[in-house]
Amino acid sequence: MIDLRSDTVTKPTAEMRAAMAAAEVGDDVFAEDPTVNELQRRAAERLGKEAALFVPTGTMGNQIAIACHTERGDEVVCESRSHILDYEMAGMGLLSGVMPRAVPGREGGRLAWEDVSAAIRQRTTYNAKTGLVALENTHNLAGGTVMPLESMREIANGVHELGLPVHLDGARVFNAATRLQCDVRDVVAPVDSVMFCLSKGLSAPVGSILAGTRELIDKAWLVRKTFGGGMRQVGVLAAAGLVALDRMTERLADDHANARLLATALAGIPGIVLDPESVQTNIVIFELEAGVRDAPSLVASLFDREIRAIAFGARRIRLVTHNDVSSEDCLEAADAIGAELAS
Ligand SMILES: Cc1ncc(COP(=O)(O)O)c(C=O)c1O
Repeated sequence: MIDLRSDTVTKPTAEMRAAMAAAEVGDDVFAEDPTVNELQRRAAERLGKEAALFVPTGTMGNQIAIACHTERGDEVVCESRSHILDYEMAGMGLLSGVMPRAVPGREGGRLAWEDVSAAIRQRTTYNAKTGLVALENTHNLAGGTVMPLESMREIANGVHELGLPVHLDGARVFNAATRLQCDVRDVVAPVDSVMFCLSKGLSAPVGSILAGTRELIDKAWLVRKTFGGGMRQVGVLAAAGLVALDRMTERLADDHANARLLATALAGIPGIVLDPESVQTNIVIFELEAGVRDAPSLVASLFDREIRAIAFGARRIRLVTHNDVSSEDCLEAADAIGAELAS
């Protein structure tokens, strides 16, 4: 099976499994797990932030950040198709009592300061105030697009001048840094907190990191416990996270090259609408022309050909490259899609 549904499907590498078996552990609710402590220290250092916290999922990392930065009744300004709005189960409302204020991104889902500033509100006697601005880089639903550093800096500077914090959903921030050919520190420098996932392209089985100031992470520790995310001998998972940080960031460029290869092959297939130039990282989203197959039925037929993909609506399909698919797999998948559409 060539599984292109997501980079979350990656299996832990042999090196990760060995590190997991050998991990020293302790009770992390007492902050006594040496492997977790080491992962948190190294992740903070890598990002250029004061402190970091290991959390079970990216969703929990984002939701903890929202809870830490906001007060009940606040609004969170975010992009209309952002993960915190579309795919986190209304968590910000349920867990923090805040509302999203969605701002449509420009090309590639890129937020513009003009639009963000127009959405930020002070509290009056008749409206809520903005408590947080949240960015996403890379932007998943926009197709793994990368927000340029200048845009991030412009938005963060403007938001900070208004006395508000900025959180980055950086589930795939190492993909952003790879595409931008810069240090990941440069990508996260403008923001007050960042969440990134060890469990996506970096191939760890579980886990994400939330990083920011010492003060924020001390608060985040308590919120994580409240949300039920206090874990015990979790060094077995942090050990895989350390391998992810050390060994798996450099190779993301291969995933990006494979995504381009796949997109270029798909773009030549009649019935598919896709500009390979729009593929910036490891996510390929293409449209099926009207009158061709619909996306769910194509995905179902591909499954029979041992290719897994995800339908995003009636005409849209997403494919994601990762450590467990090769360039040959990508070409094979494109061939299978071509054959299916021709049949
Ligand atoms: C942009 C983005 N943010 C957050 C998440 C949430 O991560 P998790 O599935 O670990 O909760 C995802 C997962 O796909 C994502 O794509």
